[in-house]
Amino acid sequence: MKFGYFDDSNKEYVITTPQTPYPWINYLGSENFFSLVSHTAGGYSFYKDARFRRITRYRYNNTPLDSGGRYFYINDQGDCWTPGWLPMKQELAKYECRHGLGYSRIYGERNGVGAEVLFLVPLHADCEIQRVKLINTTDAQKDITLFSCVEFCLWNALDDMTNFQRNFSTGEVEIEGSTIYHKTEYRERRNHYAFYHVNADVAGYDTDRESFIGVYNGFDTPQVVLRGESTNSQAMGWSPIGSHSLAVSLEPGETKEYIFVLGYIEMPEQEKWQAPGVINKQRASAVIEQFKDAESVNTALSALQERWNDLLSRYSVQTGDEKLNRMVNIWNQYQCMVTFNLSRSASYFESGIGRGIGFRDSNQDILGFVHQVPDRARERILDLAATQFEDGSAYHQYQPLTKKGNSDIGGNFNDDPLWLILSTTAYIKETGDVGILDEIVSFDNNPDKKASLFQHLKASFYHVVNNLGPHGLPLIGRADWNDCLNLNCFSKVPDESFQTTTSKDGKVAESVLIAGMFVFIGSEFVQLCEYLGLNEEAEAARRHRDSMQETVLKYGYDGNWFLRAYDDAGDKVGSRENAEGKIFIETQGFCVMAGIGLETGEAQKALDSVKEHLDTPHGIVLLQPAYTRYYENLGEISTYPPGFKENAGIFCHNNPWIMIAETQLGRGERAFEYYAKIAPAYTEEISEIHKMEPYVYAQMIAGKDTPKHGEAKNSWLTGTAAWNFIAISQWILGIKPGYTGLVVDPCIPSAWDDFAVQRSYRGTTYQITVKNPQHVSKGIKDVIVDGKSIDGNVLPAFDDGQEHRVEVILGK
Ligand code: BGC
Ligand code: NOJ
Repeated sequence: MKFGYFDDSNKEYVITTPQTPYPWINYLGSENFFSLVSHTAGGYSFYKDARFRRITRYRYNNTPLDSGGRYFYINDQGDCWTPGWLPMKQELAKYECRHGLGYSRIYGERNGVGAEVLFLVPLHADCEIQRVKLINTTDAQKDITLFSCVEFCLWNALDDMTNFQRNFSTGEVEIEGSTIYHKTEYRERRNHYAFYHVNADVAGYDTDRESFIGVYNGFDTPQVVLRGESTNSQAMGWSPIGSHSLAVSLEPGETKEYIFVLGYIEMPEQEKWQAPGVINKQRASAVIEQFKDAESVNTALSALQERWNDLLSRYSVQTGDEKLNRMVNIWNQYQCMVTFNLSRSASYFESGIGRGIGFRDSNQDILGFVHQVPDRARERILDLAATQFEDGSAYHQYQPLTKKGNSDIGGNFNDDPLWLILSTTAYIKETGDVGILDEIVSFDNNPDKKASLFQHLKASFYHVVNNLGPHGLPLIGRADWNDCLNLNCFSKVPDESFQTTTSKDGKVAESVLIAGMFVFIGSEFVQLCEYLGLNEEAEAARRHRDSMQETVLKYGYDGNWFLRAYDDAGDKVGSRENAEGKIFIETQGFCVMAGIGLETGEAQKALDSVKEHLDTPHGIVLLQPAYTRYYENLGEISTYPPGFKENAGIFCHNNPWIMIAETQLGRGERAFEYYAKIAPAYTEEISEIHKMEPYVYAQMIAGKDTPKHGEAKNSWLTGTAAWNFIAISQWILGIKPGYTGLVVDPCIPSAWDDFAVQRSYRGTTYQITVKNPQHVSKGIKDVIVDGKSIDGNVLPAFDDGQEHRVEVILGK
């Protein structure tokens, strides 16, 4: 069942009923000011950091779900309603929500009044614009009152939800004309405030939540709206809000527009005040002036749309499959931007408090994002490298506001260092900017300890070499990619976090996944050294990589598939010898991606075993059989009921590793079959089962061991976005940046006749047509560039700002 449809020409998903199986959200902003907005106008805003600079309040895991947002209420002669359906839930004659790229538009209609609210965060501005259009669709005059409402958060989101003995006494506001200023804690150490403005005279306002809503009411029954009149309340402590009321008179057929601006302002210390106790409003006035009318908002919206057209033009495909086109050309790339921006910090499943920018997460996000805004990828790579230690290990996360490693979680996740090599080489291949390797970067953000980025990468590589276990496989540390396989933890105490508890400085437990990563990513390091002409460095690295490859085949293979790990007792994990958890997905993916066992048959057997044991109609599960009890030696993975999360859920993040692995074997049918199984545009039809937004990937889909099979969770912020984009764009459609040009090597279902890709690369546009006259999956017969056949399959990096036509003929 569907709850809407894709409008590809507008690059929007159109939700046609408010009663979706879960709040379906969108993200506004991609620089400093961010908003989450659901299809019923729920959500919140923050500046840079969802923990330290939360502007509006949101209560997670609330009931009813998704209450709290930026709400507009209409009182139409006593009949009160909200255009997004929530929170008042009055029946609407019409409802529609269009989530677009960086904006959302919600329309509701009742009793002949239509209300359309456009939400957007303009480019290069630190504010959210809400444009409200009120339309009288009847032939009689309508006199209504419009109320706005946002609830201010007291900045630090964790504190906001916990420290009430203080918080209830700190709230402060100023009101000036149609603008409400939120200045809580500005008197002391903060140099920022927020404001909420409307470009019209107001009939009244409220800034104190209890006056507006009523002590025992909810957002669904604010007493001021029901009564039809603001109280002009002045918040003193308790919970400050911003609410305006406007008396609106509409002639038959008339439309009126109002622009609301929710802004964030930072002031230099010396300019904080315009008079004692009165905040300096100059900067706020400038923002208000900038977005004062409908025209300025239209301009901001067009600029945003142009920006996205440009970003998306860097890789786009034309195939006969509209679902594939819309995933590649619109939604997958959009999600890559969002995951790059926020890592795993703020979604409807991440409170914005617990996790900042993850080291492994962000390095992987860069893979799917780097072609969009390479400069920002560059900055992120350097920020991440600065949270590394001299031995190559790294903080697992850092806070976006401070860019400092988060010592609450620390490091010791032994896969982390390798991901930095992968993101950096992806960046250099995309841009040709080898200069990034000479950048001098601190270790642990300490300016006294620093080295070139190249030395950081080398430290990453040798961190693996220097931390090998009894079989010569990499020690796992706290965990590798699979946060829940905790082989040095042994926790018996329910309040211990599996992420931070390490009971042992383990020198036994080894990860075959890190080994596979080392061969795959280590080859990238070798190639980079060769490209830089560092032949000795390359040779030394090659020897380590080759020896790891042998070790994997010797100690990391289990007959029909790759093992997952050795635990602290030296026993196998992910082996036919185990009663549960006999086979895991991760190592089948990464080891085959790395080319291990391709020539000798182990790779094919491993992928056939994935098909046999792990594949389901909803995607590939992480392991089988699921763990049915808690294993102290394995940790969190065995805490989840069978079929959920890492315990045999369908982890969408590593499904693409199998897709890529299949392309290594040349099996295009199977690679694409796996792709289409989890790609949201294809699962749209079963939205009632899947439940999450049909336009973005979710982290996890419940596996076959649970009656909830097919039900997704944790949408938006997941490495799934980047890896699926890599799998489809670089390995299946097969257009991949290399050091000297674009490598073309598609691996597609043999039934495909042709497809076309437009790719901008280092300032040049390549119009590539791929033809498949012999109906093969893989193999190139001819590559014709601007009318001439070339040797090999690397399209030269012309660097000439021109457009070049390329014809690729597949075949034998
Ligand atoms: C989840 C993981 C996550 C980890 C860290 C675990 O509970 O299952 O997917 O990476 O927490 O937040
Ligand atoms: C989500 C985490 O963000 C990611 O780092 C991890 O690899 C996966 N969970 C798997 O546990």
